[in-house]
Amino acid sequence: MTRSPNTEDRWTGVLAKLPRGARLMLTAFLAIIGTGYLIAVLNIYHSHSKADGVDGMSLDDIRAVYSGLTVARGRPSPSRMLTMIQTTMREYISSEEDFEVLQAWLKEGGGKDTFDEGKGKKTPRRIIMRNCLRCHSASTDTDISKHAPFAPDEWDVKHAGLSEFLSPVAEPGKPTRVPPQYQIPRLILVSHMHMLSIPMFTLVVGLLFMTARVSPGVRGFLTPLPMLALVFDFGGWWLARTADVFIFAIAGAGGVFGVVFGIQLLVVTIDMWRPMREAGSD
Ligand code: HEC
Repeated sequence: MTRSPNTEDRWTGVLAKLPRGARLMLTAFLAIIGTGYLIAVLNIYHSHSKADGVDGMSLDDIRAVYSGLTVARGRPSPSRMLTMIQTTMREYISSEEDFEVLQAWLKEGGGKDTFDEGKGKKTPRRIIMRNCLRCHSASTDTDISKHAPFAPDEWDVKHAGLSEFLSPVAEPGKPTRVPPQYQIPRLILVSHMHMLSIPMFTLVVGLLFMTARVSPGVRGFLTPLPMLALVFDFGGWWLARTADVFIFAIAGAGGVFGVVFGIQLLVVTIDMWRPMREAGSD
């Protein structure tokens, strides 16, 4: 059964009939959402593109974060610690030399036997004591020290206190299996923040798009795609631990969301300012 064309017509093009003030408000809203989305994409790139220990965004970055990764010997060993010092923790490392030493140690796998290797005070242990413990030791009582305490106090750090954030020790001659960098508590945090916010503006833009003057076929096809993509994206974050196919779901869903959401934003904005045709269809 098809619906009478009148039901469709009632809403089609309705945005163009709104007063100018309302259209300005909606246009500003769409501009903010569009820009916010682009910034979010840059943020994803910044925080995840090195997750697999190699520059640039790839499926292995998504694996490193959500499902864990098998790393061939000789390749840099990704770990939460390596990612963090290359991204948000970079600013806390006082000198370029300290950064290089710490990064090299982490890329090698962050082994216990090399924890004290280096020149004078330039050993991984010393560098972490100097640069990290003022926030990451339990005695400082900072918020992060409750989630990620590296040591009981600021005077020394044991390798065991870091192991949660390092790659596991490789068996000689075998590739390293690295666990997902997002552990369950972090996944819960990230999920609830994203699942309660992104669908809201996706819904608003989707509803506006439902009124656009494009062919009903195109509208029917494109309207549900961003929201469906979110289901696959959020679902993938959790299911990636069980099967590799969900890594492709996350990547695919991200791509579909970006493209179709972008189209919806543009079409709605243009449609809103395109004059009504003087036809007698009303
Ligand atoms: C000024 C305080 C501060 C300093 C100094 C600091 N961190 Fe952090 N660190 C934080 C905060 C806050 C977070 C949580 C924010 C986030 O996840 O982006 C965090 C998160 C982390 C995490 C992720 C923990 C998790 O649960 O996944 C790692 C690993 C880490 N830091 C390593 C380091 C290292 C290595 C250093 C020293 C080079 C360092 N941090 C220095 C405040 C600090």
